[in-house]
Amino acid sequence: MRVQDAVNVEDVRKLARRRLPRVVFDALAGGAGDEVSLRRNRTAFDRIEFRPRPLADVATRDLSTTVFGERLSMPIMLAPTGAGRLARSSAEIAVARAAARANVVYMQSTVAAFPLEDVAAHSTGTLWYQLYLPPDRSEVGDLLRRIAAAGYRALAITIDTPVLGNRERDTRNRLMSRPPHPRTVLQGAGKPAWAADFVRGKVDYLRGQLGAGRPGDPASSASPASPASPANPVPLSLDQTRATIASSSDCVTWADVERIRSLWEGPLLLKGLMRSDECDRFVELGVDGVVVSNHGGRQLDGVPATIDILPEVVDAAAGRLAVFLDGGVRRGNDVAKALALGAAGVFVGRPYLYGLAAGGEAGVLRVIELLRAEFDRAMALLGAATVADLDRSLVSGARIPAT
Ligand code: FNR
Repeated sequence: MRVQDAVNVEDVRKLARRRLPRVVFDALAGGAGDEVSLRRNRTAFDRIEFRPRPLADVATRDLSTTVFGERLSMPIMLAPTGAGRLARSSAEIAVARAAARANVVYMQSTVAAFPLEDVAAHSTGTLWYQLYLPPDRSEVGDLLRRIAAAGYRALAITIDTPVLGNRERDTRNRLMSRPPHPRTVLQGAGKPAWAADFVRGKVDYLRGQLGAGRPGDPASSASPASPASPANPVPLSLDQTRATIASSSDCVTWADVERIRSLWEGPLLLKGLMRSDECDRFVELGVDGVVVSNHGGRQLDGVPATIDILPEVVDAAAGRLAVFLDGGVRRGNDVAKALALGAAGVFVGRPYLYGLAAGGEAGVLRVIELLRAEFDRAMALLGAATVADLDRSLVSGARIPAT
């Protein structure tokens, strides 16, 4: 099966699993500890039932929505993921290009393989930036200036990663071992298409280091390569990516949020919230939105499913914060459930990484279009002509706090 023939995200996941060495697939698909929260994210969606509204005129539907004053084609967005380069060497550049073509928001991760300026240069769409704070806080101001200058509209501080989660698949697979474990090399050799792309990425990296220019998606080779310089660095090698991931875990505090709020003029979000009692304080600090997220079950195992926490955060935010959700969204129907429960939008992580692995930019695009088609159909069948028509009356079985 080719990625264009995938009928749903699960098909794309299977294609990715076929193309990737096991150690890489596990790094994308796995969660923390016993993966209880990873599974919960999914099972909680399945528990929620639809109660469609009868006789609504849904002959035409409008999936668009306004977020932070900007009109978006639909409320589905791409979550920040480091190590996309493991899936495919074109990594964030392919993702940004697909997001722009589909007119959806892409939030780039701090631990991306490509510099934030390069990703922005390849995108005509709306980009947001996910921030892990540099351990040396004096570098924050410069970093924020670069992010703003490159055109990223909104900034999300990830707040659920004071240390990395206990990812046992990665430990068992010795993902971080240098040189790579012989088993990893063997696995790579067994996936020649992936290995060829991986080696090409390495060669591109070395060329970039020599100042010969930087790689992009093969489809974007027409774009000019710019020489490497301190302000315009070459992409990270895989080793650097790993090291960045390891060192990027740090404790974000209230003082950091306050300081970043004073330095960043655009919309500011906090990503990784799993409770509702601090919402008043976020509003007082000038935070504009939150992402209810458990990092796709990769951080603290044992936390609830995000869709189970969403309603209480929506209620506590009381319209003062835009509330987004990620975790376990695999169907357009899941998007409809989250929107009905008050989300301003949802992010997907692994689904587009599987698309990236399976088909590069085209694979990411396929995933977005599959989700768009499912969401559109779900809206019609629910009796919702617009995103604003999605309300709590359309779902039952959700964990909604008593008022
Ligand atoms: C992530 N996520 C993540 N989040 C973040 O704030 N910064 C990051 O660099 C990363 N990196 C990352 C890598 C990989 C491989 C995955 C799977 C996830 C978490 C991500 O933004 C999002 O919260 C989850 O992926 C959402 O869950 P689903 O859609 O993957 O189930």
